[in-house]
Amino acid sequence: MKNRYAVILAAGQGTRMKSKLYKVLHPVCGKPMLMHIVNEVKQLNVAEIVTIVGHGAHKVKEVIGSSVSYALQSEQLGTAHAVMQAREQLEQKKGVTLVVCGDTPLITKETMEQLIEHHKQMNAKATILTAKADNPTGYGRIIRDASSNVQRIVEEKDATAAEKQIQEINTGTYCFDNESLFSALKKVNNNNAQGEYYLPDVIEILQKQNDVVAAYQTENFEETIGVNDRVALAQAEAVMRKRINEKHMRNGVTIIDPAHTYISPDVEIGQDTVIYPGCQLNGLVYIGSECKIGPNTELLDSKVGNRTVIKQSVVTESVIGDEVTIGPFAHIRPQSVLGNQIKIGNFVEVKKSTLADRAKASHLSYIGDAEIGKDVNIGCGTITVNYDGENKFKTIIKDGAFIGCNSNLVAPVTVGERAYVAAGSTITDDVPEQALSIARSRQINKENYVKQNNNEGKS
Ligand code: UD1
Ligand code: CA
Repeated sequence: MKNRYAVILAAGQGTRMKSKLYKVLHPVCGKPMLMHIVNEVKQLNVAEIVTIVGHGAHKVKEVIGSSVSYALQSEQLGTAHAVMQAREQLEQKKGVTLVVCGDTPLITKETMEQLIEHHKQMNAKATILTAKADNPTGYGRIIRDASSNVQRIVEEKDATAAEKQIQEINTGTYCFDNESLFSALKKVNNNNAQGEYYLPDVIEILQKQNDVVAAYQTENFEETIGVNDRVALAQAEAVMRKRINEKHMRNGVTIIDPAHTYISPDVEIGQDTVIYPGCQLNGLVYIGSECKIGPNTELLDSKVGNRTVIKQSVVTESVIGDEVTIGPFAHIRPQSVLGNQIKIGNFVEVKKSTLADRAKASHLSYIGDAEIGKDVNIGCGTITVNYDGENKFKTIIKDGAFIGCNSNLVAPVTVGERAYVAAGSTITDDVPEQALSIARSRQINKENYVKQNNNEGKS
């Protein structure tokens, strides 16, 4: 829709977070708070989103990117002053402007859509999104007259004892007639407890000039939590976690213990996959159907096929095929590609390697910078010796080869198709296909060694 605009306030430092990281960049379920809001607002068909930046402007822009425009608030003089900074982009526009605080990461597009709808129905110049809070401490309170019309908003620090009893709070999300907003902003002063230009004061200004001011109360207080400190951050995290996990469960994923399962917002999981407790699925993770993941498994930016089992393991930036079993206690490091029906057992580390279908490394191995063919069996304790202190080298093991236990494959080296490497070998030269390579010193048995070296009869 052409006549919808949005302003997101994200210039504050977030002093109460006591952090080097700017408040709006603190992650909730692995994604910066501000990013959650931008993603929701984008789905409202707005013609332009202006994000107000100040503290950490450079970093915020870097994280959020160029799909929104920015206005700089170089001094943080309050939320009304923050919105004023969007004047160049928006002042001349006709239409509705949604204002959202950058620290309310749980707000949904549905609720904002309902707010805009109510604003239209009421033919209002300003509509506040409000909620009833069990504990309203810290929020601005909604003051209504005897006929329950909204009059103004009072901030916690300016409220009388009686006003502090009011449970209806300002969520910090509003819908304005754009021209009314910018003309009222000019009239806001900073005569208040915090010496700031408060955006909520626009409500009283409009109300006093007989403009229609409305409120839309959402049922869902949780969605409007404002994150000012780490206690609220953990509350927001818990609400978001529940929301994400319930979405997957409704889509046919079994989550054994949702309170202890941590899934980022953009993860996709197929039907009949079971997620056991203690898993973290971070970033862009895609898991197919009928998999078993966990317990205590961490996946980051990875893709997993169907019917794969991953137990107590870590997988990072890798692609795993169908019917693979990994773990317990395996580590699949970036740029690894595992085909189908692969087995990676306990204490196996794979780094930047490809393994073709049915390859197996069942116990205690390091596979780095390697290309492993189909049906290869890598015996317990095998190591690809890929690093000489300066450069990395590649190990190639062709289809059907068998690597005996406790072998060192000193790269660059190739083991040919269906070749055998004897246990305990240190392979420094290529092994031809179908050969058996033994590269270890011969066993010598020194008969009667003990008798000859000890004085007999001495204890
Ligand atoms: C604000 C509201 C309060 C409401 C609450 C909802 C005001 C004065 N108060 O209070 O009524 O109940 O949100 O969560 O608006 N910001 C700027 N520039 C500034 C100041 C703030 O960009 O100069 C941004 C902050 O980065 C933040 C947002 O505006 O994202 C809200 O500011 P914050 O200081 O958290 O306001 P609250 O005290 O929570
Ligand atoms: Ca806040």
